[in-house]
Amino acid sequence: MADLLLRLANGRYSRRLVRALGLPCPVQLARAAGGYEPAPLLGRCTVVGAAPGGWALPALLTAARNAGAECFDALPEGRAADTVLFDATGCGTPASLASLYAAFQPLMRRLARNARVLVVAADPADCGDPLAAATARAIEGFVRALGKEIGRLGATANLARVAPGAESRLDGLVRFCGGVRCTYVSGQVFCVSAKVSETEPATSAGQLAGRVAVVTGAARGIGAATAQRLAEEGAHVVCVDVAAARDPLYELAARLRGTPLVLDIATAQAPSALCAFVQEKFGGIDVMVHNAGITRDKTLANMKPELWQQVIAVNFAAIAAIDDALLAGGLRDGGRIVCLSSVSGVAGNFGQTNYATSKAALIGYVAARATGLAARGISINAVAPGFIETPMTAKIPWIPREAGRRLNASSQGGQPRDVAELITFLALPGSAGLSGNTIRACGLALIGA
Ligand SMILES: NC(=O)c1ccc[n+]([C@@H]2O[C@H](COP(=O)([O-])OP(=O)(O)OC[C@H]3O[C@@H](n4cnc5c(N)ncnc54)[C@H](O)[C@@H]3O)[C@@H](O)[C@H]2O)c1
Repeated sequence: MADLLLRLANGRYSRRLVRALGLPCPVQLARAAGGYEPAPLLGRCTVVGAAPGGWALPALLTAARNAGAECFDALPEGRAADTVLFDATGCGTPASLASLYAAFQPLMRRLARNARVLVVAADPADCGDPLAAATARAIEGFVRALGKEIGRLGATANLARVAPGAESRLDGLVRFCGGVRCTYVSGQVFCVSAKVSETEPATSAGQLAGRVAVVTGAARGIGAATAQRLAEEGAHVVCVDVAAARDPLYELAARLRGTPLVLDIATAQAPSALCAFVQEKFGGIDVMVHNAGITRDKTLANMKPELWQQVIAVNFAAIAAIDDALLAGGLRDGGRIVCLSSVSGVAGNFGQTNYATSKAALIGYVAARATGLAARGISINAVAPGFIETPMTAKIPWIPREAGRRLNASSQGGQPRDVAELITFLALPGSAGLSGNTIRACGLALIGA
């Protein structure tokens, strides 16, 4: 799993060799340690700009200041920009897109390593006139291309599509996309709406203090990192995995002061067993992370029916069945559901017809479920990881593994912690405006881009 190229590219002497050989030179990506930060943009030199005629700038400025940012409308001499926030809601004609060029072009050589860019735009669906809708859609192309250009710095660029009246919900997104925690999440579109009713505000002691979260497949990989991250935010975490993973599961739960639960999620009794367990122990839960997943890769020509069946059962059917049970009694109002999809579900992948089918299903699932849950303040989103360094990807043969690792804007694989950061953000009160979204944590992978 160790990435030798990343080590060599960041070694004082070996870096020259990597360059001389013409190999990709991945930078060390910045990652946050620990839990809740009241001011995640503190100390970040933040440039805040807007296209003329927009409506999100005041909310963007308030969110940035609430997050502790030092805000400038122009980058001071001698400084590099750590965060750039730009309100593009004023872009409604082809000519207005010049404001993107005017704002970003001068900054391109003045971005700090691991800089963060967040652009706010209108949702094309909310634009009455076709030209305004096309212009709003154009901004997505700009952000994705920008993300690809700045990815070699470890920097990220993301887009918030904000519905009118939902600007006040930008706080959480500015904290996440403007701060260090959105490592490996780039070129993504976050649709912010006012549909999901907001429940409680964040507490200062820990944003999930007093809340109960369930993470399936928690014994290792992304699940273990997510359990840890949720615990850092103050949640009590119920760590679920199969009997074969009992030892690491119990170790993790003990370390996090959480609760272990041995359960195969694909069994017929799993939904009722999980609901009975959480009801009896905690009176319900607040966060459900459907992380457990399996691969059984074969080309379709060589795929036995049981390989198809197992993958659909664990990766899709089990999730829907558990949610049915939890929504009938178990998940409290204001709760959060996060499903682990995959870029394979976005773009398809050779040898993964079963897996891609199951993961694409989750993209449709969260979109279709979101509206019905909004009145209860419950949001449901999917996270689609790209190449993440876990035991699952360690099994991939060397050549496709190297390709998966390098074919993205930062020329390296992500860490389980990166996906855990995104999942945790979607579990926090500050993400109340997001529901039905699928967000990739793929370092802007070329596949599925
Ligand atoms: N690692 C990646 O690059 C990557 C990329 C895209 C999507 N994902 C998705 O992210 C999720 C986590 O991936 P990972 O790489 O950490 O996987 P992993 O294989 O390292 O861990 C998965 C965990 O799920 C558990 N599990 C499997 N079947 C289960 C069942 N029936 N009931 C309960 N637990 C079960 C396993 O025991 C294991 O602990 C999966 O859904 C995966 O499809 C991962």
